[in-house]
Amino acid sequence: MSILKILKEPDPILRKKSLPVKQVDKEIKKLIKDMLETMYAAPGIGLAAAQVGILKRVVVIDISKETYKKEPIFFVNPEIIWKSDILEKKEEGCLSIPEHFAEIKRPEACHVKYLDENGKEKILKAKGLLATCIQHEIDHCDGILFIDYLSKLKKSFILKKLIKAKKNQK
Ligand code: NI
Repeated sequence: MSILKILKEPDPILRKKSLPVKQVDKEIKKLIKDMLETMYAAPGIGLAAAQVGILKRVVVIDISKETYKKEPIFFVNPEIIWKSDILEKKEEGCLSIPEHFAEIKRPEACHVKYLDENGKEKILKAKGLLATCIQHEIDHCDGILFIDYLSKLKKSFILKKLIKAKKNQK
């Protein structure tokens, strides 16, 4: 297993659409393992392959709060097949947008169709934090970041700070 480099906004790769995975093979299974290790090391509760520069529709999540018991879940080709009409505001952050958080309104529940590690189609019914997290990560697969839901002013404020932080790193 290896820890992968997480891309930070602004980065053109984060704005690209990821492609569906044709087959859940060895390579995809290794990617999932590496993504989980990368997410735990960060630490974060969700990571999409696009965030590590791999434009494939793969997402890993672990929203368990107890650090002694990990509850990793992963999705290949996740697709929302139903979402609740009820919207809920929750604070979101993102490993690609370090140190910035904002309240985002999203459907409070959703059903997701995806492939498991055996390439078998499954459906997960999610609500609360898990539903938020899944929607956030699927957005990454489509090149969308949570700051895109903010007002122009708030978004440009965060973007400016991110650009500044990147410059300081160099
Ligand atoms: Ni994110």
